[in-house]
Amino acid sequence: MKRKTKSILFGLFVGLFAIGSLVLVSCSGSSQLVTEKTGAQLWGENCVRCHNAPSPPSFNDYQWETIALHMRVRASLTEEEVAKIVEFLKMAN
Ligand code: HEC
Repeated sequence: MKRKTKSILFGLFVGLFAIGSLVLVSCSGSSQLVTEKTGAQLWGENCVRCHNAPSPPSFNDYQWETIALHMRVRASLTEEEVAKIVEFLKMAN
């Protein structure tokens, strides 16, 4: 009887540990995904939220830099995300 209780407790402990590490892994996994997104992806996801995504050739490099400053505030993007988007826009214009 005592033995059974011990193994049940052990099973519970292992189960909780497994769930805990699963949660940890999934959390760090999703934050990794955000930083792994390309500029093109970020552009496609964010710059269509309020208007049609302006196509890269619509503006030159200097114009994109200024536009990015304005739209970064509107879209509340991080510096890194905007840098990636601008890099993509400059490459594709
Ligand atoms: C939260 C809403 C919002 C998001 C997200 C947004 N924009 Fe805008 N955008 C606007 C509004 C409103 C205007 C028009 C007013 C202005 O120019 O400030 C505008 C105007 C523009 C213009 C000027 C268009 C023209 O013909 O003069 C460009 C270019 C532009 N956005 C690019 C972008 C890019 C690139 C992104 C993604 C990084 C983006 N926008 C994300 C709201 C947004």
